[in-house]
Amino acid sequence: MRDFLKALPKAELHLHIEGTLEPELMMALAERNGVTLPYASVEEVRAAYDFEDLASFLDVYFQGMSVLHTARDFEDLAMDYFRRAAAEGVVHVEMHVDPQAHLARGVAMDTLMEGLERARRRAASELDLSTALILAFLRDRPAEEALEALEQAVPHLERLDAVGLDSAEVGHPPGKFAVVFRRAAELGLARVAHAGEEGPPAYIREALDRLDVCRVDHGVRCLEDEALVERLRAEARVLTVCPLSNLRLKVVERLEAHPLPAMLEAGLTLTLNSDDPAYFGGGMLDNFLACERAFGWSRETFTRLAGNAIEAGFMSETRRDALRERLAAMQVPPGG
Ligand code: ADE
Ligand code: ZN
Repeated sequence: MRDFLKALPKAELHLHIEGTLEPELMMALAERNGVTLPYASVEEVRAAYDFEDLASFLDVYFQGMSVLHTARDFEDLAMDYFRRAAAEGVVHVEMHVDPQAHLARGVAMDTLMEGLERARRRAASELDLSTALILAFLRDRPAEEALEALEQAVPHLERLDAVGLDSAEVGHPPGKFAVVFRRAAELGLARVAHAGEEGPPAYIREALDRLDVCRVDHGVRCLEDEALVERLRAEARVLTVCPLSNLRLKVVERLEAHPLPAMLEAGLTLTLNSDDPAYFGGGMLDNFLACERAFGWSRETFTRLAGNAIEAGFMSETRRDALRERLAAMQVPPGG
């Protein structure tokens, strides 16, 4: 099964590029840029990755990204991840980036865009990996600041596929960003938003109704609202679920207790993703393997999930056709 899951052409729709920063690269970039971290070694960094919830993770995540300063840092960060991802059978990566977190540290929009763009070009030519970029807004910051970040990104519009909404969810409903997402729509950008990770199902509804999102990131709390599940099913809305993230941030106590099987049973359109692989104990393949262990899913189920991601990804139709073909070439015995 491991070989099968590795070979499966996996498209990753929910990933924070800053969440791919491995402790080794964090220490190396701290040294290169003269940044002092509160950790003396890679082991100490890893020891800090014992999270109680989303908030306790976000503290460590924002601290970690303080080592990123130059375009080369962003290029190294993304290439480091793209290489690992490609080696485990990932064929397409859609990365969120949190510009406000970098602008606040004095890193210019041009700097991060240039570094990510270089890595994306290299991913396409060196690794046959397609990529997309999602400009994410920090929902615990004012909407005016998000709008300002969006305007600063306008010169890079060609490089952007969508806007997203992330960071501390509870107390920061999607509606707060309605004006920002409307502006993104005017600019021709697709919209996605984290909702229903720690926040209530009402936030998922609000993301659909007020932000006009095409995908919901996480969305695992939708099961608490039957009418919402029916709507998500009827509208075939895509949910980007991140099993190991939910485990490490204690959204669920054990993976066996994760709502994923019930969500599948309810007929929802799901994808599997890694969220912040450097912090949550593994990348795409680890997430697929963890689901296999916890739920005993068949090859057919994993193939369906991989297919959902290929259909929902921001990619050219030529690329989508190529990935569909690669998926169709996977040997799945009937009922296997
Ligand atoms: N930023 C990075 N990872 C996140 C997550 N899982 N939820 C919300 N914001 C995030
Ligand atoms: Zn996320």
